[in-house]
Amino acid sequence: MAPPANNLLISCILFCCLIAVSEAEAQPSFRPKALILPVTKDPSTLQYLTQINQRTPLVPVKLALDLGGQYLWVDCEQGYVSSSYKPAPCGSAQCSLANSKSCTIACLPSPRPGCNNNTCGLMPENTVVTRTSPSGQFGQDVVSIQSTDGSNPGKIVKVPNFLFTCGATFLLDGLAKGVKGMAGLGRNKISMPSRFSAAFSFHRKFAFSNVAKNFALCLSSSPNNNGVLIFGDVSYKFFPNIYSSDSFTFTPLILNPVSTSSIHRDGEPSADYFIGVKSIKIDDKAIPLNKTLLSINKQGYGGTKISTTYFPYTAMHTSIYDSLIKEFTKRMQSQGVKRVESVAPFEACFNSTGIFGTRVGPSVPVISLALKDSKVDWNMFGSNSMVEVKKGVMCLGFVDGGWRFVDGGVNPRTAIVIGGHQVEDNLLQFDLAASRLGFSSSLLSRQTTCSNFNFTSTA
Ligand SMILES: *[C@@H]1O[C@H](CO)[C@@H](O)[C@H](O)[C@H]1NC(C)=O
Ligand SMILES: *[C@@H]1O[C@H](CO)[C@@H](O)[C@H](O)[C@H]1NC(C)=O
Ligand SMILES: *[C@@H]1O[C@H](CO)[C@@H](O)[C@H](O)[C@H]1NC(C)=O
Ligand SMILES: *[C@@H]1O[C@H](CO)[C@@H](O)[C@H](O)[C@H]1NC(C)=O
Repeated sequence: MAPPANNLLISCILFCCLIAVSEAEAQPSFRPKALILPVTKDPSTLQYLTQINQRTPLVPVKLALDLGGQYLWVDCEQGYVSSSYKPAPCGSAQCSLANSKSCTIACLPSPRPGCNNNTCGLMPENTVVTRTSPSGQFGQDVVSIQSTDGSNPGKIVKVPNFLFTCGATFLLDGLAKGVKGMAGLGRNKISMPSRFSAAFSFHRKFAFSNVAKNFALCLSSSPNNNGVLIFGDVSYKFFPNIYSSDSFTFTPLILNPVSTSSIHRDGEPSADYFIGVKSIKIDDKAIPLNKTLLSINKQGYGGTKISTTYFPYTAMHTSIYDSLIKEFTKRMQSQGVKRVESVAPFEACFNSTGIFGTRVGPSVPVISLALKDSKVDWNMFGSNSMVEVKKGVMCLGFVDGGWRFVDGGVNPRTAIVIGGHQVEDNLLQFDLAASRLGFSSSLLSRQTTCSNFNFTSTA
């Protein structure tokens, strides 16, 4: 009893499939709704890690998660064995997708993954310690990953030709033990979300070219429990709640026209996710700060981005940091809390005797980010703002970003870098097609956490 309109719909589906298949990359036969990767927190480095299966035969590859990273890179110098590895020949479609301007004509003495003749290259970067390698060959290999419908785990799917860059072993310095590369989720055509979406064309609406480039990140606060990274636009179930696009508050993702990567070419925009912070409030009262720093200037300085690698805690321009600490301390003291000696890297530490716990962490003043075009502020409660450094002492988990960075230290390139601690147990949806960030604020207030995603397959 199919009405004629459905036939039109079906031919349209077929047509869309044909378009998707014409992508130079994968042609997997099964179309998952979404894909999932578990995200763990390394207890010693506090880095967020994930793991993919890659190569033929498949091996698990542990990766540090790099939200603003440009692409997947892995160490090909040591232990990379695969019969399905293919280098990207200079001038190929892959090389132009990567906007690669370099070509290795001959790599001697003998070819191996990461060292082939006539192969284009990129410069992979370890964004934790800001170190780059000049010669990262671009290539592709099989990747296998678990699918999901948003609630329960589904089939394992294979992407035959997943693009990545070969890094060097020395680039792994500073990354957690066992890590072999970095999972770049950034804002460009060759990042992991873009490649998965190209491989499977996750449909959002029934539009021809509007492939939903969309992923969600939910970092767990505990090293003992997995958080999750979900590629594709589905409703996400964190037991017992379901989050769909309607559940989020949105704010535009802002493009920084100047690359924030340590090596970059002129005219290349940043792959980092910037949002428009308009003001910072403590218990709903805006703190004084230099608003000029909150917008991105022509040289690409200023603004606010989210990072999983820069530092596990939010790093701020010294002037913003000083104001936050001053106002926060005042507010704490007015509630009878005593400031105690600093514990590095934090400055504002407090005697936590008498600070009681709530569902959303220690009961301390709420720090809120007022965001561009967003009706609701992003509220950070105690679980996201405070860090217990030792028994009886709790510090404001923000750091001075002035100590680090390119020009002399006082002036960090990005005024506010929101770190992992501040987004843990928050569900964040990065919608690249609509160029917006959806955020849930703390899931703890909704009686769930980022580790309540169902990874347990019955199969
Ligand atoms: C790579 O190029 C070198 C130098 O031209 C050549 O000697 C070698 O045979 C080439 N290797 C392969 C696998 O084509
Ligand atoms: C998790 O997913 C599996 C596989 O679909 C299902 O059998 C199981 O009931 C789910 N668990 C929960 C708690 O929903
Ligand atoms: C605000 O920051 C901008 C950019 O760093 C700087 O040029 C300006 O002097 C600052 N204004 C004040 C009042 O400190
Ligand atoms: C915190 O305050 C309590 C009660 O006033 C006191 O006994 C304790 O020594 C203080 N702790 C620190 C670290 O100052």
